[in-house]
Amino acid sequence: MTKRYYAACTLGLEEVLADELHDLGAQDIQVRRGACEFAGDQALGYRACLWLRSAIRVQEELARGEARDRDELYQLTQTVDWSRFITALQTIAIDGSVRDSWANDTRFPVLVTKDAICDQFRAIDGKRPSVERDRPDLPIKLVLMHDHAILYRELGGAPLHKRGYRAIQHKSPLNEATAAGLLLLSDWDRRSSIVDPCCGSGTFLIEAAWIATDRAPGLGRSFAFEHWRDVDVDAWREIYDDAEQRAEAGRERMPRLAGNDRHPGALAIAEKAIKNAELTEHVQLTHGDARNFEPPFDPDMLVANPPYGDRLDDDPERLASSWRAIGDFLRRSAASRAWVLCGNPEVTRWLRLRSDRKLPVRNGPIECRWLRYELGAGAGR
Ligand SMILES: C[S@@+](CC[C@H](N)C(=O)[O-])C[C@H]1O[C@@H](n2cnc3c(N)ncnc32)[C@H](O)[C@@H]1O
Repeated sequence: MTKRYYAACTLGLEEVLADELHDLGAQDIQVRRGACEFAGDQALGYRACLWLRSAIRVQEELARGEARDRDELYQLTQTVDWSRFITALQTIAIDGSVRDSWANDTRFPVLVTKDAICDQFRAIDGKRPSVERDRPDLPIKLVLMHDHAILYRELGGAPLHKRGYRAIQHKSPLNEATAAGLLLLSDWDRRSSIVDPCCGSGTFLIEAAWIATDRAPGLGRSFAFEHWRDVDVDAWREIYDDAEQRAEAGRERMPRLAGNDRHPGALAIAEKAIKNAELTEHVQLTHGDARNFEPPFDPDMLVANPPYGDRLDDDPERLASSWRAIGDFLRRSAASRAWVLCGNPEVTRWLRLRSDRKLPVRNGPIECRWLRYELGAGAGR
């Protein structure tokens, strides 16, 4: 049976997500702001959770219709047979989003939806699922726009960027899905070597290794749909086994990867994450200032996400010094090009390089540019 899905991503990565969906065989892909809608069977939903690198969430549409008031929203919610998905002993959580609607905020419509679901269960044998905010068995999304509502169930549970390799957070880590999406948005051929001179917790390097070796980003983590009554266990096992085999075969295609950072704490986190991602032998890390960094091999491409002054405690002089150091490194590198993520146009001048591509991307709340710099003889200004 064909289902309709909604996958969310970082703003600016919509086309990357659409390409990923196309490769997975999704039908009727519609690009939206920060998302794609698409269609496919139930197995496609599982593959989307396991394989999408740039997506943060995948939701399956359950009902859509007019909801001009409380009663219509209640009725719409009741058109779904919720007992097909979970038992009354399991848990739910409803996340609401309301725009230009009769409800001022999400609280009342969320309550109505919850009541409609619980009443439906109670009518069977008096029992109802309880609400569990943190790790519900069935995460539900309610979208109320004008007089229209859509109900989804969220397939992943925990956001898909939580791959499982990062136990501790560095100060400004790059979201894993954003890092993977940026690599896919760049002109990297998914094979050649990459160096990150200020790698922080190593997200670019880990995501690059997994892309190059065809390792599904969701291998090793769990998904909400695995706890549902209607899960197609055989289809899921086949998809998962195939991903394990691809990851095994892909290890031969590991590119050379190296990172550096001046912050020992960040490097300790990177080391741990790299170990968790089973990449210890494949990613070389060095401690020091980018200005003096000598990568262990001549890289093909550089990537960097230097600090750009988004925290109040960022000292402008220290910031300028970071960008100068990274600029020095880029200009003397043997790489043919660099991609740099920046959320502050003021600081890029310290690189003393002119970018030839500027792609708008949102990093958390910050409007950023994913900047490409041609390197080698003649680069710089
Ligand atoms: C925004 S964080 C990078 C986050 C990283 N992409 C991640 O996934 O965790 C910026 C990093 O640049 C490093 N850094 C800043 N200036 C540096 C310099 N001159 N040399 C080396 N590292 C530097 C900081 O220590 C910090 O870890």
